Amino acid sequence: MGVIKIGAFISGGGSNLQAVIDACDSGQIPGRIVFVASDNPDAGGLVRAEKKGIPTFVTPYARLISEIRQGIGRKLPDHVDLNAILTKQALFTGGAQNSKAERFFTSRILAEIDLLRQMEAYDFDLLILAGFMRTLTPYFIDRVNTPKSLPRIMNIHPALLPAFPGFDGYGDTFRHGCKVGGCTVHFIDYGEDTGPIIGQKSFDILPGDSLDDVKRKGLELEWQLYPQCIQLYAEDRLMVEENRGKILVKIRK
Ligand code: GRF
Repeated sequence: MGVIKIGAFISGGGSNLQAVIDACDSGQIPGRIVFVASDNPDAGGLVRAEKKGIPTFVTPYARLISEIRQGIGRKLPDHVDLNAILTKQALFTGGAQNSKAERFFTSRILAEIDLLRQMEAYDFDLLILAGFMRTLTPYFIDRVNTPKSLPRIMNIHPALLPAFPGFDGYGDTFRHGCKVGGCTVHFIDYGEDTGPIIGQKSFDILPGDSLDDVKRKGLELEWQLYPQCIQLYAEDRLMVEENRGKILVKIRK
C-alpha cells in the first residue's frame, strides 16, 4: 500500500492522536496524518495537530443539535433518505421510527454533511476515530466505506468489547467490579461499538485500584494498541471475512 494517508476525528485531549502521530514519525506506521477534525472547537488535540502543521477543521455538532432541538435547524437536503437510514441503523433498537430518533439522525446527518464537505479537500485511505465522542450514521459510513472490500473507519474503545459499549468504558468496567479491563480497536459498523474487532489489550485491576488507576492503565495500552492496528492496516495485513452472518477481521501473517 506504500505510505497511507490517515484522517483523524477527535473530541478531546488527543493523546491517542499523539501516539499515532509519533508512530508515523518513528516509521512504525508507514503513513501520515492528512487532516484532523473535531466536533469540539476546544479539543486539545487540535493544538497537537497544529503544532505538527497538520490541517484541522471543526464541525459544530453541539450547535447543530441544539438548533434541531429548538426547531430552528436546517432541513435535510432532498438527496437524504431518512427512512432508509433509520431502517439501516443499529443505534436505536425497538422503534427507530419515532420523533426522537428522527431528531437524532437529522442533526447527526447535518453534521456529517458538513464533515464530508470539509473532508473533500483531503485524499485519505483510512479514517481513525481517536477519542471522537459522536456516533456516525449509515449516511456517513456508506460514503466513506467505498470500495466495500475493507472497511475504512477505525475506532478505539476503552473496554474489552463486546462488554461495555458506550461512552464510559473504563467507568463501566470499574463499577462492575471487573478484575480485568482493557481496550479494543475495531472497524465501525452501524451499531454502537459493535463493529469487527481488530485488536485488544488487557490489564489487571488490582485490589485498591481507583477509577483513575484503571483509566491510566487503559490509556497507556491504547497508545500501544492503536498504532499497532493502524500499522497492520497500512501493511495491508487486515482482511474481513463473513462467518455465520458476522463480519470478522483476519490478520495476514
Ligand atoms: C480514550 O480513552 C478513548 O478510548 C476514549 O476517549 C479517550 C480519549 O482520549 N474514547 P484522548 O483524547 O485520545 O486523549
